[in-house]
Amino acid sequence: MRRIRLFLSPGDVADGILQGHLLVAIDVLRASTTICQALVSGARDILPVAEIEEAKRLAESLGREKTLLCGEREGRIIPGFDLGNSPLEYTPEKVKDKTLVMCTTNGTALLARLGSGGEALIAGFVNAGTATRYLLRNKNDVAILCAGLLGQFSLEDAVCGGMLVAGLERRRKVSLSDGAVAGKLLYKRLAKNLPGMLQSTHHGAYLAGLGFGQDLEFASRTDACEVLPVFREGRITKGE
Ligand code: MLT
Repeated sequence: MRRIRLFLSPGDVADGILQGHLLVAIDVLRASTTICQALVSGARDILPVAEIEEAKRLAESLGREKTLLCGEREGRIIPGFDLGNSPLEYTPEKVKDKTLVMCTTNGTALLARLGSGGEALIAGFVNAGTATRYLLRNKNDVAILCAGLLGQFSLEDAVCGGMLVAGLERRRKVSLSDGAVAGKLLYKRLAKNLPGMLQSTHHGAYLAGLGFGQDLEFASRTDACEVLPVFREGRITKGE
């Protein structure tokens, strides 16, 4: 039977355990949400990196006319970068046809750890339906990876992972890991008020305190972005 695993924090992923799984990376606040919005706004591709200096070197080597440096540290735009990590900044006027070199604390760091040979879908509430439909078309076992916050559990990623688990279980008989059961239970408990759930989280409250309250509302809009970001060969593009 098809196995669905949900890893509630990056530290839960044991060596070799992801072998043979279709991977889904989740960082609701805010990298997944921002990546979805960037692709909807026509960004050509997104190159996730872990370190700021690496991002600067990569953008220089690609040529700065067609490349934007994007990302945050402690939620704020990195000094000298073109864009921060608020999905609302990623308008067609700013990102259409651009390559985005993106460096965020948890989300792009998780993808960068998968390496240039790694492959993953990227999901948040904003594209949960599109991601679930893709997963239902595929037969592989699934591993959903929550980016969490500084290596720790974050409620918003667990609830979003649980939403995917619930969507998969509704349509097919699947075998769930304990993490997947936990995520599904959290989702069922909190699904009625996703904006309220985001406000109640540690990271959500922190972002609201920085003046990014509108990002929480945006991140809670289920299926607002019909897009499937796919990380493959070190870059994120729109999948089919
Ligand atoms: C991250 O990837 O660490 C987050 O997206 C942080 C943020 O909210 O900007």
